[in-house]
Amino acid sequence: MSIDSLNDLFVEELKDLLSAEKQITKALPKMIKAANSPELQSAFEEHLALTEGHIERLEQVFERLGLAPEEKPCKGMAGLIEEGNELLKEAMAPSVKDAALISAAQRVEHYEMAVYGSLRTYAQLLGDIETAQILQSTLDEEGDADRKLTQLAEFSVNLQAAEADMEEVES
Ligand SMILES: [Fe+2]
Ligand SMILES: [Fe+2]
Repeated sequence: MSIDSLNDLFVEELKDLLSAEKQITKALPKMIKAANSPELQSAFEEHLALTEGHIERLEQVFERLGLAPEEKPCKGMAGLIEEGNELLKEAMAPSVKDAALISAAQRVEHYEMAVYGSLRTYAQLLGDIETAQILQSTLDEEGDADRKLTQLAEFSVNLQAAEADMEEVES
């Protein structure tokens, strides 16, 4: 199909985003299992529940546009998830693995934030303020998740991972 207007672009990106969110709901259970720190596990569990809500909001946006919720395979998200999976196949100290999981998860959050930010702005420009607000709600939750992961990394997980390095130097 040709994309002749901002509205067409909005719909195309919406389909891509629905695919991205659905991929995340499949990846998160594996990340929960792979995580070592209970705080990280619960952060991922919490985000899985929120992600299900993100999918519902996207379906709501499709409905507002009078469209069926359709997916367009998001290659960007597939790539991020594949990279994360590859990394997890490596033998790693548990705390280092947690640091790697946070880094992978933050890439996912930033990707989502970029798309939600763009779509929110398109909706504003197209004069659909309610849709813009729906997208903003998810954007805010993605931002919160990202900040929570930064906190977990800076105050706990990365410090433990750095300790694993020290132990390796000492032994
Ligand atoms: Fe999301
Ligand atoms: Fe997310």
